Amino acid sequence: MTELIYMTDSYKQELMARVVSCVQKGNWWEIVLDKTIFYPQGGGQPSDKGTIKGKHGTATVKHVRMQDDEVVHECSIEGTIEIGKFVECTIDWNTRYQNMRVHSAGHVVHEAVRLVAPYLDPIKGEHGKTAYIQYQGSLPIDKKTRIEQQANDLINQNLHLKTEFVTLDELKARASYIPEHLPKHKPLRILSIGEYPPIPDGGTQVKTTNEIGEITIPSIDNTVDQVRVYYTVASETENKDATADQSIAAPQFIGLLLDAEREAKELVAESDKSAEELRIMLLGPKSELGRLTKQIRQVPAADRANVGVVVNQVKQSIEQAICNNPFTHSPIHPSSDSWIDVTLPGNRPPEGHLHIVSQAIMEITRIFERIGFTRVRHPEVDWDWYAFESLNMPPESPARDEWETFFIQYPGKPKERHSGGRRPIESRGDPIAPPNAGLQDDRKTGQMVLTPHTSNGQVREMEKGKLPIRMINIAKCYRRQSDVSHVPMLHQFEGLYIDKNVSIGDLKGVIDYFFKQYYGPERKSRLRPFHFQFTEPSFEVDINCGVCLGRGCKFCKEGWVELAGAGMVHPTVIKNGGLDPQVYNGFAFGWGIERVAMMKSGTQLDDIRLLYSNDVRFLEQF
Ligand code: DAH
Repeated sequence: MTELIYMTDSYKQELMARVVSCVQKGNWWEIVLDKTIFYPQGGGQPSDKGTIKGKHGTATVKHVRMQDDEVVHECSIEGTIEIGKFVECTIDWNTRYQNMRVHSAGHVVHEAVRLVAPYLDPIKGEHGKTAYIQYQGSLPIDKKTRIEQQANDLINQNLHLKTEFVTLDELKARASYIPEHLPKHKPLRILSIGEYPPIPDGGTQVKTTNEIGEITIPSIDNTVDQVRVYYTVASETENKDATADQSIAAPQFIGLLLDAEREAKELVAESDKSAEELRIMLLGPKSELGRLTKQIRQVPAADRANVGVVVNQVKQSIEQAICNNPFTHSPIHPSSDSWIDVTLPGNRPPEGHLHIVSQAIMEITRIFERIGFTRVRHPEVDWDWYAFESLNMPPESPARDEWETFFIQYPGKPKERHSGGRRPIESRGDPIAPPNAGLQDDRKTGQMVLTPHTSNGQVREMEKGKLPIRMINIAKCYRRQSDVSHVPMLHQFEGLYIDKNVSIGDLKGVIDYFFKQYYGPERKSRLRPFHFQFTEPSFEVDINCGVCLGRGCKFCKEGWVELAGAGMVHPTVIKNGGLDPQVYNGFAFGWGIERVAMMKSGTQLDDIRLLYSNDVRFLEQF
């Protein structure tokens, strides 16, 4: 049995090992050692190459494979390799490091796919020259950009890749998916990226995601019932160039682009070269513009999209100058004055993507699902009882003023309110009868509202009678307000956890988990005492500022930014949900999706209504 050194140390490039066997097979040799740093092809990762040097000969390792519990090095040999003797092994580090980066990138892409399309089941991955992950199911090809963004987001967070050896039971308990065939002769190992759930893995991996560099998703390929998500990573030298510390600020970079444009146009005006020659000289990969285009990765990620637009404008304007110049002529149609360059890339049809709020809803749902919360839906037009009264806010409560509520005239509403007792409501059979019509008591026959918050889901969820409750209710909410910082229709997500012996510590733990997953591992939360009618104690939740990380800057108040409301569910609310507050307790929180999502992208909107203005120029930036 060969000891697999690469599984514990993927950076080891040299090793002394003892030769167990060396057998000639046709015109090549097969060497088995007592331990090895050579990776045998498998799990989608290509095998290593390198040399094995003995006292009287050198073997060049061309390919490595696993055979039962032994690693077989397929080699050509100059001289002799002696059995039982020590040899010096060296792997071709460039090949290995590239393979390692591509393999780790595969795991990052997989996490990104899971964030965008959690319903897909992975089947296999290929991490060689052509790299892809294959899933059961299908995926719209317009998800390409989103997956690429998510993958590069993970790269930029510089997450750690950690491997651990585990027993089969541990693997089954911890891994996010179990492949059909687990290796029989290798130790079982799991890999986790940052705080994402571990995945079984036996390959070689880099230590941190920034070693991978920028990931591109060139295509998504659907067959009848499976889909491949192809990915590429920049070569190591390109990556080094890109991560070198000379970052360029966007305005400076745009300045360089405009200089290049001016110089190119001057050259066109003075030149007597053909259009094709000018195009190669001014727009080709070796031109100044080509060189700048490659450097775009040095611009901070947040500004790259805008700078990309300028790059394209400059390209078009140089192209235009070449076409308009009377002295340049096209070799394609030399005699015609209107010409077509068939080698120019075609116009790309516009590609859409999900609205930023829908993207956030999917991501938030995923994050809470990982800790056992389930997304539920409750009515967005609901009885006053659920929106207010059951939450400890009777009609006369001044607390209601916080919510500028739209009240709905419900035609089936009885003229007088009954006082207690169950009876069918008058609107039975009414086509627009709201949820529960005809079934519930008179508490649900009062006024109806467009839900001003998602907290109406609390008592509704408790009424289902299924315990413990771990719900995440995401819905539209409506408030009679519209100005630069308010929209009349907004989205909230409401978390509710009801069980026995729930503590404030549990609430803090869940909030911390969400912040780290959604905003990044360096973010922290703090609970500030507050008041809500439906929680006791109540808190406002703050997050440490993403710009100064808590030190205090002009974007925040002393390092903290207010995000949301939360608290321990009030006993009256629990009672209204039909549960015994002596036995059950829990926590709840309710946050605005728009605010949470804008904070994540670091966008400071002058007018929040832009989000719903359907202006593609605005929306396509997210
Ligand atoms: N419903 C509150 C609002 O719209 C937010 C909220 C605060 C929800 C505290 C909660 C909570 O569940 O515990 O402003």
